[in-house]
Amino acid sequence: MASTVGWGGVAVSEAGIAIIGAGMIGAAHAAGYRTFAPRIPGLDLRLDAVCDMNTDLAGRLAGAWGFSRFESSWEAVLRDPDIGIVSICLPNFLHTEVAQAALRAGKHVLCEKPLALNARDARATRDLARRSRGVSGTVFNYRRIPALADIRSRVTAGDLGDPVQIVILYQCDYAADPMLPHSWRYTFDKAGPGALLDLGTHAVDVARFMFGEVAQVVGATANIAVKERRLPARATTGHGHVELSEETAKVDNDDVMSALLRFANGAQGYVTASRVAVGAGNRVQVEVYGTKGTARFTTETPSHFDLAIFSGDGPAPFQRMINRPSSPFIGALAPVPHDLVSIGYAEGFGYMIHEFLTAIAEGKSFDNGSMEDGYRVSQILDAVQAASETGARMDVNWQD
Ligand SMILES: NC(=O)c1ccc[n+]([C@@H]2O[C@H](COP(=O)([O-])OP(=O)(O)OC[C@H]3O[C@@H](n4cnc5c(N)ncnc54)[C@H](O)[C@@H]3O)[C@@H](O)[C@H]2O)c1
Repeated sequence: MASTVGWGGVAVSEAGIAIIGAGMIGAAHAAGYRTFAPRIPGLDLRLDAVCDMNTDLAGRLAGAWGFSRFESSWEAVLRDPDIGIVSICLPNFLHTEVAQAALRAGKHVLCEKPLALNARDARATRDLARRSRGVSGTVFNYRRIPALADIRSRVTAGDLGDPVQIVILYQCDYAADPMLPHSWRYTFDKAGPGALLDLGTHAVDVARFMFGEVAQVVGATANIAVKERRLPARATTGHGHVELSEETAKVDNDDVMSALLRFANGAQGYVTASRVAVGAGNRVQVEVYGTKGTARFTTETPSHFDLAIFSGDGPAPFQRMINRPSSPFIGALAPVPHDLVSIGYAEGFGYMIHEFLTAIAEGKSFDNGSMEDGYRVSQILDAVQAASETGARMDVNWQD
């Protein structure tokens, strides 16, 4: 039976969910839908299909998370009238084509970051999303880490005073090992700028989430640490090691990038991202400074952030602000909503999927990580890339 998902507020009954791309991040989407699909009142959601050209992988992911079937063709998924909701978890260079086809097919679409390889393509996808009756969004999962959402609401409420400075470090070590195989991630035509598009996308989105729009990229720089890699002897996903062939291929996108930003509100920001930071794991550190206070957070300790508010009476000591039931997402969605019950990456991902499904159920738009946000981040990243190539300051010019 065809699904009658609630486009534009029409009554909702049932919908099949499909994940397109069964690699590393497809699994996080599967876990999110598995956890939260049953918690959406008014929607009878089915975990329907996992699609990947690597059918072994698709079958394994479908089996692990209870999806009914697997597919090899994303076109077949989009033609299926029983599928109403799709997550796009494919390599970066496929996002534009598949997201636009999914929007044209009338699906609800959650597309992995980056929305596109460049702002021109991201804008075209955003324009289609505006005309679509479905709910659409870009995966900016860090917005749903409770501590970061909490800091954001304090910044917006003015608790930290006027915005002064934001510092974001996104340090990863997934590519630090030179014996890791070459893959789509290491070529500019398939991944775009490397660390910038892979990790800087999140860093810039968190910066906007806290301080609003970026007006200018004052300066940027990028470099490649591992200049060539051996090709894999068989298919790889994520950042996994596999047997290597004797053939090598050039790495032609950045391993490390840094940018200095000027926000429309006059504040400044520094974002840096690396995929070769030995020992870093997947560490995101955020420091937000205002005229009255400072908030700081790291994903190494996701269950709290530190806050110092200047009282005008001596130095402002940092206080540990632990996750409590009153923190964003915790009271409503954590299975054990108690002080300091730990949360991490998977939970933040799930909270995003809960919000996406809720928007579908209620026939509302998904504004916290929309395709507009995806486009605006792309616009800033293009300016960072241009600043790093030319050495010039770059204004960020929005095109509506
Ligand atoms: N939000 C996050 O925190 C986060 C984290 C990791 C990755 N990502 C994003 O997710 C996307 C995927 O990354 P990944 O690490 O899962 O990559 P991956 O290489 O592990 O997986 C991609 C999968 O897509 C499949 N695929 C490729 N072309 C296909 C096609 N034409 N049809 C069907 N399947 C195809 C591959 O077989 C592979 O299994 C990227 O855009 C990346 O930026 C986001």
